[in-house]
Amino acid sequence: MESPFKPDVLKGKVALITGGGSGIGFEISTQFGKHGASIAIMGRRKQVIDSAVSTLQALGIPAFGIEGDVRKQEDARRVVESTYKHFGRIDILVNAAAGNFLVSAEDLSPNGFRTVIDIDSVGTFTMCHEVLKYLKKGGPGRSSSSGGTILNISATLHYTASWYQIHVSAAKAAVDATTRSLALEWGADYDIRVNGIAPGPISDTPGISKLAPEEIDNKSGDYMPLYKLGEKWDIAMSALYLVSDAVYLPLGVRALVSSESA
Ligand code: HXC
Repeated sequence: MESPFKPDVLKGKVALITGGGSGIGFEISTQFGKHGASIAIMGRRKQVIDSAVSTLQALGIPAFGIEGDVRKQEDARRVVESTYKHFGRIDILVNAAAGNFLVSAEDLSPNGFRTVIDIDSVGTFTMCHEVLKYLKKGGPGRSSSSGGTILNISATLHYTASWYQIHVSAAKAAVDATTRSLALEWGADYDIRVNGIAPGPISDTPGISKLAPEEIDNKSGDYMPLYKLGEKWDIAMSALYLVSDAVYLPLGVRALVSSESA
């Protein structure tokens, strides 16, 4: 498919993408790279990261991979520091790492519940916290006039109730709350733009193959307005828009716009 965005829309930007080696995360890595960004991929599985990085490099995208678990603060710090050392700046953090499995609430152990909260919710906050100093306006490698941007990937499970997904629903609700709070605090204080995308079921992802039995996957399109599942491309294009300068107004310009419109 041809991108509706100019190929240099992220030129000169550096993006760190957790869970960027597979599924939605890898599509985001690929599309950001194809649109000019340098890509750092964080993940737990070396083989997955290596293969993703080779694919990106074969496309001419500057990319490197770092093993790490978002549940461990020391890993988060190391990965953020390595990204900065490697590329000299960090402009974009995408939190796409997630844990998931189908289980009834009755059969889910408290530790299973905690594990998914640790990966999705605490992991997202930890990564944001570690990257903060690099994204602040005037931070290492940045100008004093503009901050970076964060994009958190959640889900729509928690908008209503979903069978066998109590742990993920709770975790993604916390991710959405974190996105809103950081958008407020870090937008106002540091000019960091924080956004979230909540994908519904997306075809050809580890999430859908793990969570939706094949017959649901095949039939689910019948109940959707467009008669089809979402695609990784849809999410990557939304992500591209949200991290691009299309939604960027420097603070000075914002002040001007609001005083002119007042
Ligand atoms: C019940 C389970 C379980 C399962 C793990 N646990 N898998 N309980 N059913 N299938 C429980 C364990 O029993 C244990 O609790 C606790 O969770 C920790 O398990 P570990 O195996 O030690 O943890 P770990 O190796 O760290 O693995 C955690 C993991 C993760 C969550 C299973 O490896 C994982 O999910 N990886 C896959 C990543 C993935 O699929 N990502 C795509 C996400 S899609 P006890 O009490 O026994 O110690 C997504 C989209 C959502 O998020 C929206 C879709 C519509």
